Amino acid sequence: MTENKIVTYKCPSNIALVKYWGKKTGGVQLPANPSISWSLSDLHATTTVTRIEKVESKALENQISLEFYLGGESKTSFEPKIKQFLERIAPMMPQVYLYHWKIESQNNFPHGTGIASSAAGFGALALCFADFQRDSLEQEQNWSDEEFLKIASKYARLGSGSACRSVYGKPGIWGETKAWIESSDEFAVPFTANVHPTLANWADAVLIVDDGEKSVSSTQGHDLLKNHPYASSRYQQAENNMVRLLEIMQMGNLSEFISLVESEALQLHAMMMSSEPYYLLIRPNTVAIIEKIWNKRKENQWPMAFTLDAGANVHLLYDKSYSLQVMNFIETELLVHCKNNLYLCSDLGAAPQKL
Ligand code: DP6
Repeated sequence: MTENKIVTYKCPSNIALVKYWGKKTGGVQLPANPSISWSLSDLHATTTVTRIEKVESKALENQISLEFYLGGESKTSFEPKIKQFLERIAPMMPQVYLYHWKIESQNNFPHGTGIASSAAGFGALALCFADFQRDSLEQEQNWSDEEFLKIASKYARLGSGSACRSVYGKPGIWGETKAWIESSDEFAVPFTANVHPTLANWADAVLIVDDGEKSVSSTQGHDLLKNHPYASSRYQQAENNMVRLLEIMQMGNLSEFISLVESEALQLHAMMMSSEPYYLLIRPNTVAIIEKIWNKRKENQWPMAFTLDAGANVHLLYDKSYSLQVMNFIETELLVHCKNNLYLCSDLGAAPQKL
């Protein structure tokens, strides 16, 4: 009996500036349009995977065997999704069938805050599995760090699309675009150009508007793009926005950055509202917060912009040199719109870590 092997990774969540919304038909989890995100340094998942030898007869069965714990509690309801993830990576990593996998994950942000934990969770899980695989390679096959991250990103994508952007500290670009030559539908790549100082030191305050289950999951939402009357225009718009945003990030054009990012957030929700069946994830408090951000910015010209995920929460992105003003604004004017007065702050741009 060989010894059990354990790997742990901490991986941040991310917030998209240009949104992934819609999947290509054919292939597994391929995006219909390119996207780019910032990693949320202080909102992360830490996942430990223990590789346990199967008894020989079990090893022969082509069955995935796993147990999953979240925050120390067994969560069998998550196991089918993780099993599907392992089945999807199995063609590239057949050893997933040879072992029993004990997976223990925890998020450092409170459960039920509507924050997408799947990006951080699948990011961390994919890094652990890519690490096991790297460890089993012969010396001459060894991967460079860059290859390792590409493989981890590809695996993460197979768990949850947006997770593939979480394996980098630099902004993650996912989906083929003429804006970035190395871009791919299969995995994310880091945006390695120099970000202009105007946009290089920003943070995110996530204003928690709703902490309940979403009425329509992201996976169901992507699916509704298949017969969506505006899908092809939206994909073209996202491509145009990618081209423009990558320029803006290098040139530091603040007002264009703000309008592009806010327009992307509203387009995402406009696609939901015009799906068949239509649905609405924003809430009155989402709109109240957005309007206060607009008014405040008009009065003071503070460098800040809102964005949205597939939910009611508002991400307030702001230049950290305005932290005092923005925190005061949140505390005095926005908190009344937050569920249980809750908001979560995060720096941007941390890379995952092996622990
Ligand atoms: C709105 O990555 O959660 O957050 O690939 O089906 O797991 P699946 O969907 P998911 O989609 C989230 C999309 C988004 C925008 C974004 O992060 O780009």
